[in-house]
Amino acid sequence: MRKVYEYPKSRAAFERACKLIPSGIYGHQGPAEGCYVPVEAFPLYSSRAQGSYLWDLDGNKFIDYMAAYGPNVLGYNDPDVDEAAARQRAISDCTTLPNPVMVDFADLLVETVACADWAFFAKNGNDVTTCAVMTARAYTHRKKIVFFKGYYHGVSPWTQKIDYAGILEEDVQNNLYVTWNDFDELQEVFEKNKGQIACVIAQPYMHGNFADNELPAEGFWKKVRKLCDDTGTVLIIDDVRAGFRLDIAGSDHYFGFKADLICFCKALANGYNVSALCGRDFLKNAVSSLSFTGSYWMSAVPFAAGIACIQKMKRLNCPQLLIDKGTKLKNGLIATALKYGYDLHVSGVPSLFYLRIADDPTLMLHQEWIAECVKRGVFFTNHHNHFINASLTDEDIEDTLEIADEAFMVVKDRHS
Ligand SMILES: Cc1ncc(COP(=O)(O)O)c(C=O)c1O
Repeated sequence: MRKVYEYPKSRAAFERACKLIPSGIYGHQGPAEGCYVPVEAFPLYSSRAQGSYLWDLDGNKFIDYMAAYGPNVLGYNDPDVDEAAARQRAISDCTTLPNPVMVDFADLLVETVACADWAFFAKNGNDVTTCAVMTARAYTHRKKIVFFKGYYHGVSPWTQKIDYAGILEEDVQNNLYVTWNDFDELQEVFEKNKGQIACVIAQPYMHGNFADNELPAEGFWKKVRKLCDDTGTVLIIDDVRAGFRLDIAGSDHYFGFKADLICFCKALANGYNVSALCGRDFLKNAVSSLSFTGSYWMSAVPFAAGIACIQKMKRLNCPQLLIDKGTKLKNGLIATALKYGYDLHVSGVPSLFYLRIADDPTLMLHQEWIAECVKRGVFFTNHHNHFINASLTDEDIEDTLEIADEAFMVVKDRHS
């Protein structure tokens, strides 16, 4: 039996943080939005990371399947990316004029991403989804945006919901919501809003929280693409989360269609802070016309890191490598669950797998099993997809399956 972790230093740090920082840890890395329930099962602060591993403040080691919620694609502290970043840092980073490494990065993205004729850089995923929607509105001179229910495109007011704190009715009054994979409903919405829809914004497949992740239905993307073409609507793919974990040329390419605009962030530079909006030629003037920039958006170090990251992802055939590792883990987890009579559903593309124990619709049983995994050194979270990184070894997968087995055993015993 494995040692069961405890987190006294994490708890003390969180208590201190709560006095100084709103929510202590806000957003997706905090216990509330990160869905760290039961909260006592989870560490809250890390002390260091290397490859596939994360150490918490109490010195407990985890095989980390959250990968910083995506950015860790090659392994923490990847030597090639870090060396490229260090070389650039020795020359310049945040300066009055941009460094031409920015142009090199754009060049590499245009060469790599199937629908890209240009690249525009920012810092976070939200920056580029916002830039994409503004571009579509500037180009079409229309107001309305179509979303698929279950989406997440960041935190700007346009992408939040009417009942969220701080959001005005006006912020979201041009938003239209349709059911993922329901083309008839989408067509109806287009009929009712003729000549008013600027864009459809969508993840390449439905990788939302609290629900099994859903791939596009056969022919779905082809029909959406045609509908957008026929109505002069801009098709935006939000590849912030899935980007480069399905296809190095973009997730639209993986599913056999071409986006007009595509948003990247998480896996773009292995943790260095940069995001990119790429798009087709006909939208280049519209992006240029926006008033949209930021203090650190042209920093050179993340561009150098991004170049090294994409080059290495290409050398490793990274998306396939991640899908293969994810498939191995997925099959092992399903078989382990079955041994104890549990029906573990693993959905989404295996490089971004989503877990749910289907035997209990309240999801409490699932939370119990996740908690027992976390307390033994496998960092899963409850109702969010997970992320495979390229440094994950076969031994890590074996170790994960052993821990998952022990966690199922504990849960089974408790409920027998
Ligand atoms: C699909 C998707 N779009 C946009 C975002 C927003 O990215 P960021 O948090 O970097 O602003 C995220 C972040 O998780 C995301 O998963």
